[in-house]
Amino acid sequence: MKIFLDTANLDSIRKYNDMGILDGITTNPTLLSKESGNPVDIMAEIVKIVKGPVSLEVVSTNTKGMLEEAHRLKKFGSNVVVKIPMIAEGLKAINILKKNNTSVNCTLIFSANQAVLAAKAGASFVSPFIGRLDDAGQVGMDLIREIVQIFKNYNFKTEVLVASVRHPLHVIEAGKIGAGIVTMPPDVLGKMIKHPLTDKGLASFLDDWKKVKKANPKLVI
Ligand code: E4P
Repeated sequence: MKIFLDTANLDSIRKYNDMGILDGITTNPTLLSKESGNPVDIMAEIVKIVKGPVSLEVVSTNTKGMLEEAHRLKKFGSNVVVKIPMIAEGLKAINILKKNNTSVNCTLIFSANQAVLAAKAGASFVSPFIGRLDDAGQVGMDLIREIVQIFKNYNFKTEVLVASVRHPLHVIEAGKIGAGIVTMPPDVLGKMIKHPLTDKGLASFLDDWKKVKKANPKLVI
């Protein structure tokens, strides 16, 4: 399972990148709006920090504008993935970008039909938003199950990038289904690291070691 961080926060990206657990980054205009600083500079910096794919989203809603933005975004680095919304003009843009060997992440996917069309147009990644479906009273993980099954049935090469993840259980469920990638906010990744029994166990190991040191003050590991 590949783990992506869903953020434009440079400190979080550096923190988890240094642990060697990040396979890529996804951003969007909302995430960029939460950061101080020039969003274009932030996107360029993220591309420099992370080796894996970095999804940067267009804001045009017509094919021509999307292609112009894609052209500029790609200049940040060879690991840039252009994020295109799942609309008719977006599918046209994906088709052209695919022919130019540009990797595309088709975003705002809320149905298996949309995922199939994005894959057929040439997207390298599709991003189904499971948390937003859960919020709307529909089980988001059911959509992941459907897309993974259909892509498997037809041997589609497009990767399923589980997005709008809200908690660690989403990550486990996505992994059990066999989705290739899960992108998550930093707080969810932080929660995946922690377990109260780990903290408790470590505290007791350290306490016991203090006793050993007391008996052997010169002892060094
Ligand atoms: C994915 O690429 C999106 O950036 C993201 O997962 C959206 O999540 P949200 O529903 O928490 O905004």
